[in-house]
Amino acid sequence: MSASSLFLVLGATGGTGKHLVKRALQDGHRVRVLVRSPQKLGDQAADLDVRQGSIEDVDEIDTDKLVEGVDYVVCMLGDKEAQRDKKINYLFMQKFVPSMRKHGIKRFLYQAGGLSKPYQGSLSWTLWLIRNTIASGFNGQHLDNEAVMEYLETQAKDLDWIAHRAGIISDGESKGTLERSISKFSMAPHRDCADYSYRLMLDPSKDAIHTSDFSCYV
Ligand SMILES: NC(=O)c1ccc[n+]([C@@H]2O[C@H](COP(=O)([O-])OP(=O)(O)OC[C@H]3O[C@@H](n4cnc5c(N)ncnc54)[C@H](OP(=O)(O)O)[C@@H]3O)[C@@H](O)[C@H]2O)c1
Repeated sequence: MSASSLFLVLGATGGTGKHLVKRALQDGHRVRVLVRSPQKLGDQAADLDVRQGSIEDVDEIDTDKLVEGVDYVVCMLGDKEAQRDKKINYLFMQKFVPSMRKHGIKRFLYQAGGLSKPYQGSLSWTLWLIRNTIASGFNGQHLDNEAVMEYLETQAKDLDWIAHRAGIISDGESKGTLERSISKFSMAPHRDCADYSYRLMLDPSKDAIHTSDFSCYV
């Protein structure tokens, strides 16, 4: 990895995305973002290559220009209300993945939820119960994440993608260091999820490529 890789962060104004952007800048990387509301970036905007747009306006976004020159793409998009009855991430990926392919990006990290099922996988009884009771308001978001993970598995195995099925509890202080796990799941603050996704993205080993695992405190 060169000292000045270019990251593209989707969801840069969100709970996890804002921490990931900060970390990438601190490490000397350049960061491009696609945001609906640039004012949410505050002073940080001066350090970023800011592109304005909504993924829901998919026809208006030049996805080739968006990924031009980019090394690493991180997707931390989510809009619970919009995803209630529309798979906005999945629809955007139909146009975005071919652009990533065309421009030869090095790695793509998609943050899904711990309550989203991996492609052809299932949830434990406990997670199923949580998803269908106290977390039922997020079901549309999980269905969207599941459609994206299926698309990546079935249509994009030529790309080096990683799906992180994160467990997020708050925007609080760090509780430790997350590591990848097939079976164990931790509820973590946004900053720990961002730190984990960032490390996974830059991990020189290819162990996590084409996985859709949980993260868990070691
Ligand atoms: N939050 C949780 O409890 C949780 C738990 C586990 C997993 N996850 C997963 O992690 C992902 C990110 O979670 P998060 O909590 O960091 O999300 P978040 O705080 O809700 O942020 C979502 C980001 O997506 C952006 N966004 C939404 N719709 C967009 C659109 N149409 N065009 C462009 N940008 C758009 C938002 O921009 P604006 O600032 O303009 O709204 C924001 O930057 C979620 O998709 C979810 O699957 C979340």
